[in-house]
Amino acid sequence: MKDNYYMDNAATTWPKPEVVYTFIDKFSRSSAVNPGRAGHQMAVDAEAMVVQTRKMLANFFGFTQDTDRVVFTLNATDSLNMAIMGIVDPGDHVIITQLEHNSVLRPINHLERDSDVSVSRIAPDKYGYIDPEDIRAALTPKTKLVIVNHASNVLGSVQDIAAIGKIVRESNAVFMVDTCQTAGVLPIDMEKDTVDVLIFTGHKGLFAPMGIGGLIVSDNIQIRASRYGGTGVDSTSPFQPDDYPYHLEPGTASLPGIAGLHAAQKWFAEKGQRLSSSDKTLSHQEACRIAVEHIHSVETNHLSRLSLAFRNMEGVTVYGPNGNGQRVATLSLNIDGLPADQVGAMLDADAGICCRTGLHCAPLAHHHIGTKENKGAVRFSPGYFTDDEDIEETISAVEELVSLYQTP
Ligand SMILES: Cc1ncc(COP(=O)(O)O)c(C=O)c1O
Repeated sequence: MKDNYYMDNAATTWPKPEVVYTFIDKFSRSSAVNPGRAGHQMAVDAEAMVVQTRKMLANFFGFTQDTDRVVFTLNATDSLNMAIMGIVDPGDHVIITQLEHNSVLRPINHLERDSDVSVSRIAPDKYGYIDPEDIRAALTPKTKLVIVNHASNVLGSVQDIAAIGKIVRESNAVFMVDTCQTAGVLPIDMEKDTVDVLIFTGHKGLFAPMGIGGLIVSDNIQIRASRYGGTGVDSTSPFQPDDYPYHLEPGTASLPGIAGLHAAQKWFAEKGQRLSSSDKTLSHQEACRIAVEHIHSVETNHLSRLSLAFRNMEGVTVYGPNGNGQRVATLSLNIDGLPADQVGAMLDADAGICCRTGLHCAPLAHHHIGTKENKGAVRFSPGYFTDDEDIEETISAVEELVSLYQTP
């Protein structure tokens, strides 16, 4: 029996692959100094690790342009704020979906309220899918930016970014995709999916620690810098350099965070190579794709078991996809008559189940499925390291709650 059954991987993945912990520790002790600033060997080693990580991530996301356009930030929220504020001007129109996280909703709401920016918020269907044609219909000559959350962190529904990207490419707008819930879980190819700006966070499916995120910016996209400071290059210039990554990367980066991304990228590639039936050495992208598909199938299997059990429980409402359409392993539900936060507290106190309750920082998604008044929903998100015991304990703990609190 475990102390905790962790079902909150949509918030942050836990645990990380062992090699991530060991590499961060090793690198922190040997070379975690300021990269690109000094010429001494430790700084050179740090810079080499950072450069290699940019390359691996570019490859991982099918980005074939200059790898200096892979920019490191604090997290996805930081990336989204930088990108949104650096692209949108007063008078512009922006399209987002009702499934966005507050890290998109709030910057956009501020622009709408304070800067004469107009906003279309596209509604999904009842299962959580956006019709790409609704994006087409919302586009106007003034549309500067279209932002789509690749997978809902409430419902798990995955949007068809290739179809949406194709539509946006026919306009002058920039297509930005929030991959927080899909990076490391679904293969993503910026070229094929025609994504102009890709937003990622390190601490979820990419298996890095907290405090590292990033964005990948296609070379035809201009993002105004909104933070200025030291870069270690061009120090006589009074202004922020135009060159990437310095343009958007002032100040000291999280070297332990980048080291975590680095080790995790190698872990993906080694896993994919091992899983492949091929004798030849696969490219980083090919190997990672195999690993990501494997991770998705493992997580989908966990999800199916949870979904089947919950959908058969009387008094339980499961939200989101009904089996048709692509999805990730995130499932939200409510138990009749019990507020979501109370369910979460009881599952934690009585059975050690770690799940997430509330609005999951996505209030419009909850408004859409009608759960705002129930204080949101209870979300279970198994991960790659979830095992049978986690699934069985979770199902029986929910079953017990339901039987205790449902009147026959
Ligand atoms: C879809 C989505 N976007 C953005 C974020 C924000 O990520 P971060 O906390 O790394 O800034 C999250 C985190 O839960 C998310 O699920």
